[in-house]
Amino acid sequence: MKNKILITGGVGYIGSHTVVELHNANFEVIIVDDLSNSSVSVLKQIEKITGVAPKFYELDVSKYDQLETIFKENQGIDAIIHFAAAKAVGESVDNPLKYYKNNLVSLLNLIECQKKFNVNNMVFSSSCTVYGQPNVLPVTEQTPRQDAESPYGNTKRVGEDMISDSVSAYSQLNAIALRYFNPIGAHESALIGELPIGVPQNLVPFISQTAAGIREKLLVFGDDYDTKDGSAIRDFINVVDLAKAHVVALKRLLDKKNKTSFEIFNLGTGNGYSVLELIKTFEEVTGVKVNYEIAPRRAGDIEKIWADTTFANEELGWKAEKSLQETLLSVWNWQKNITN
Ligand code: NAD
Ligand code: WQD
Repeated sequence: MKNKILITGGVGYIGSHTVVELHNANFEVIIVDDLSNSSVSVLKQIEKITGVAPKFYELDVSKYDQLETIFKENQGIDAIIHFAAAKAVGESVDNPLKYYKNNLVSLLNLIECQKKFNVNNMVFSSSCTVYGQPNVLPVTEQTPRQDAESPYGNTKRVGEDMISDSVSAYSQLNAIALRYFNPIGAHESALIGELPIGVPQNLVPFISQTAAGIREKLLVFGDDYDTKDGSAIRDFINVVDLAKAHVVALKRLLDKKNKTSFEIFNLGTGNGYSVLELIKTFEEVTGVKVNYEIAPRRAGDIEKIWADTTFANEELGWKAEKSLQETLLSVWNWQKNITN
């Protein structure tokens, strides 16, 4: 029998790619998503790729009574992968309570349901944002977390703590938190990818929309950082590689291979690329010029970060495989598909 996995936020960017990889790995998937940051049309795209329409609940995970119906109607859920969260850093500064409610109440509700319905495994979407600007690079999982720069970042920090305290208190529970670095790229089919609503806040969708002529120009926030070319450095990880890591983490929990009841892994490539390098590589692989100009630093940005991936490589047996070139080409193929 297939293992039954509840995917919160499964219509979203990383969730949709993970649903595809879970299908490829022979899992049965139930998606819950309130479509607050995604389009229902993604479900059709997933069906085109996999040949299967995933079971879907449109509801808000932060509303306990609604959430509970899923567990009542679907006995024997084996694990949860919890993606559902609001993720706009700037918005979280202006509207912190939206973030604490959406991200933390949702997590609390899920853990309550785990206890009540004996769902003992969770994979949680955390973020490299918990490290702030580390003093030493690359960052390992032991690098101390820093005070969050934003309410959004704080929800990831507190979310990790809520899980850590819960697995300690309720001994049947096990969890893995995955700290993503900067996820980019799209599925090779160009049927799913990142679908930002409104003006993109993140670099790569802004690059591809500028290349497609939707945005007039890209602003490069800062060229006076202490880096090789003055622009900021990040660890850009392909979303399909990232999705595959979720399958590996899930199997680890289901096979009881985890060494402690709460494990944390960095998910990155281990390579740092600068903003200007990314633009140049995008131009090289697509042959399309990106109109950009240098602008002042963006408030709250860190200078540089990239992951030490040793623990994920050795302990999970997972490694990011796709090159930056291949990944940026997938972004462009996806952009062309949604623009035309
Ligand atoms: P996304 O916005 O594309 O996906 C999140 C999905 O959750 C959306 O479909 C949204 O409609 C849904 N959702 C939000 N609140 C909900 C609620 N209360 N009930 C039901 N559904 C709800 O975001 P993503 O980029 O796929 O991110 C997935 C997870 O990974 C998030 O937890 C995010 O914080 C985390 N993360 C993302 C990044 C990144 O750069 N994309 C980096 C680190 C961590
Ligand atoms: C990358 C670099 C920008 C847009 C964010 C969240 C983080 C995590 C990942 C969830 C920075 C520069 C950007 C633009 C630019 N998410 N940039 N012009 O800020 O590293 O991380 O997403 O957990 O918490 O903060 O990603 O893509 O926004 O920016 O120059 O129009 O690109 O200044 O140096 P970031 P990003």
